[in-house]
This record gives sequence, C-alpha cells and structure tokens, in this order.
Amino acid sequence: MIERSLVLLKPDAVQRSLVGNIIRRFERAGLKIIGMKMVWVDEEFAKKHYTDDLIPIVGNKTKKDWDEFGVEYTESAEEIGKMIVDGTRKYISEGPVIAMVLQGIQCVEVIRKIVGSTGPKDSPPGTIRGDFAHMALGYASLQKRGIPNLIHASANVKEAEEEIKLWFKDEELHDYSLVHEKFVK
Ligand code: CDP
Ligand code: MG
Repeated sequence: MIERSLVLLKPDAVQRSLVGNIIRRFERAGLKIIGMKMVWVDEEFAKKHYTDDLIPIVGNKTKKDWDEFGVEYTESAEEIGKMIVDGTRKYISEGPVIAMVLQGIQCVEVIRKIVGSTGPKDSPPGTIRGDFAHMALGYASLQKRGIPNLIHASANVKEAEEEIKLWFKDEELHDYSLVHEKFVK
C-alpha cells in the first residue's frame, strides 16, 4: 500500500514562482519527498513522457469540452489529440521543471486528488489546478496549445513506476524517515 508517484511542477508553475506553495501542499498532507531536481527537458525526452498512447485520450477530453461548448469542428479525436500532444510536448520543454518522487500510503490516488482534474476549469477550489488557474481544456485546444495546468502527477501505480524510471536514477531516490511517520504507520 506504500506507493511512489512522479510529480512534475511544469514550466508555468516554475515561472509563476509557485514551487514552494505547491510543494507545501504535499508536505502538509504527510507525503515524503524521496527525490527532487530541476530539469529542462527537450522535445525528444518529452516524447518519452507524453507518448503517442496519449493521443486518443487527450483528443477525447477536448472533444467533450468542444461538444459542450458548441464549437464546430471537423477533425477526429485522433487528429485533435495529435495536435494537443504536440502542443503539450512543446509546453513541458519550454522551461525548467521541478521533478519529484513522492512516497506515501496509496499516494498515487491521494496526489491526484490534491492536484485536481486535467482542466483547471473542472478542478474544484482547494486543488492545485483549481486554485491557481481556471482555463478550460477546450479553450487551450482552440489555440492549438497544451493547457498550462501547472503540474503532472502519475495517474496509476503502473504509470508511476514507468515514469519514475524515466525521470530518476535509483541513486537519486533516498530512504529516510519523517518524524511524523509514527502517526501514519
Ligand atoms: O495530466 P493529466 O493526467 O490530468 O491529463 P492527461 O490526459 O494525461 O494529459 C496530459 C497533459 O496533456 C495534461 O496535463 C495537459 O497538460 C495536456 N492536455 C491538454 O493540453 N489538453 C487536453 N485536452 C488534454 C490534455
Ligand atoms: Mg496523465
């Protein structure tokens, strides 16, 4: 039940000086930072993080928003998805990010709750994406850009394992105790 998750503070979070504010939210929930660094990735690396598998997923998210908003379009979900994934790869590589591995009890799910939904517009107040942004996915997609939604967090345990391997070497992850661990064991 003790899990690890990859969290990235994306270029907009770094450039808006929100790093401390965001990390604080994970620390106060009792999650342990077991690895952290600043990295500026290129688009080649971004392709390994945002793989082509994402194309139909993000395409359908935008399609849902456009349908609700009455946007007229002729592209398929696949075509929309490809455009968004390209934009998202550009966005993640446009400045340095803070990459972290967090550890805690079922932390993959806990972190996703703290983060909110993919679109800030759909994320409730109190979540990172809901508190620091408000943009809708469909709006960003109309501009052919990846939505600046501040943060990435692994979606499930398998994704977390793959992403941690991509971003961190074993020796960059540390084993130590937090003083409050006796209260959560
Ligand atoms: O980040 P999350 O797991 O919530 O969403 P995803 O479906 O895995 O999409 C990955 C990233 O693609 C998002 O965090 C956004 O930065 C971007 N995206 C977007 O710009 N527009 C969409 N319609 C869907 C995703
Ligand atoms: Mg995801």
